[in-house]
Amino acid sequence: MAGTVPSGSSRRQRILHVVGARPNFMKTAPVMAEMARRPAEFEQLLVHTGQHYDFEMSGVFFRDLEMPTPDRFLDVGSGSHAEQTARIMIAFEPVVQDWRPDWVVVVGDVNSTVACALVCAKLGVRVAHVEAGLRSCDRTMPEEINRLVTDQLADLLLTPSRDADANLRKEGVDQARIEFVGNVMIDTLVKHLAKARGRPIVSRMGLEAAGYALVTLHRPSNVDDPGDLREVLEGLCRIGGTLPVVFPVHPRTRHSLDEGMLSALSARVTLLDPLGYLDFIALLDSARLVITDSGGLQEESTYLGVPCLTVRPNTERPITISCGTNRLVPRERDALVAAARTAAEESRATRAIPELWDGATAPRVARAIAARASPR
Ligand code: UD1
Repeated sequence: MAGTVPSGSSRRQRILHVVGARPNFMKTAPVMAEMARRPAEFEQLLVHTGQHYDFEMSGVFFRDLEMPTPDRFLDVGSGSHAEQTARIMIAFEPVVQDWRPDWVVVVGDVNSTVACALVCAKLGVRVAHVEAGLRSCDRTMPEEINRLVTDQLADLLLTPSRDADANLRKEGVDQARIEFVGNVMIDTLVKHLAKARGRPIVSRMGLEAAGYALVTLHRPSNVDDPGDLREVLEGLCRIGGTLPVVFPVHPRTRHSLDEGMLSALSARVTLLDPLGYLDFIALLDSARLVITDSGGLQEESTYLGVPCLTVRPNTERPITISCGTNRLVPRERDALVAAARTAAEESRATRAIPELWDGATAPRVARAIAARASPR
């Protein structure tokens, strides 16, 4: 009969993807690529909030990850948490009202994630959160607040590990909203690893494979207070006395470095501007060890089997410790130096890869959303 809908059928789902800051790009890219392969099921819009705006923090990732140019750029820029979050919400609301998505997909734990989830919750638009359920249980971390609020609001919680499912259940989340899909960032790593390995950055910098430490630091708890930052930097200088240290410096950290710290550091450590995805992965893959406070790097080093020292009192990614190469070290010079010495002696041969960190998470994300398609 004309005009009737066969039972179980649905129209093409309108999927709006949100990216804002550097760690979002490698999570959204594989999901968009997967949905682009299924044009009969999905129609997509990419919104970039502009939380990160420098070429090194944003543009280079679109090139390296072969991501489409954003359809909308909200240009919100930097500011306090309240300013940035509010600006994102104000700019994002009319985009949702105008484009009328069936689903908004947010990733990770940055201010763009929570701001856009909150807009959608008020507009009655369904939200899928990729990388849901991670908890450091440390509410002094801005990202922890973003995770808690986003997961309360989202309709579909797509988790990277089973501990994340358990965290959500403990918070009373209905199991029907939770789906364990694996780690989507590993999809990006698997896809681009061969290309990254072809980059000449290691030899061009005069480094030897497995002959240097790679460092990233940007958490407010490590870099905003000059005394705390100095403690870590002194540790890096000591490590740099015996092992080359390469340190691409995040803009937040750069703002905190005074002239004295900068000159002491540059005598012992190779300081770089933030790197693009492929060069960074090339450096990580060949590193003897990594010293970091990043979330993503704990996961990438686990996958690659590179020993990882996380300069934090906690992690929202405990599987990188129980299964992977990660260990927590205090922000204390001597402890850092001792841990680096031990880690540098570890072999890379024994590595375990967590369940469903298999390079095929994006298809599971697409299937989970398709299974909850809006009817005609
Ligand atoms: C943000 C995320 C953090 C993520 C990190 C990755 C939140 C709360 N935090 O922290 O979870 O791990 O991104 O990088 O969302 N800046 C530039 N150029 C840029 C972007 C930022 O110079 O392109 C400067 C800003 O002016 C600011 C500082 O870097 O002074 C911090 O930027 P902001 O986006 O506020 O937070 P991040 O520390 O980068």
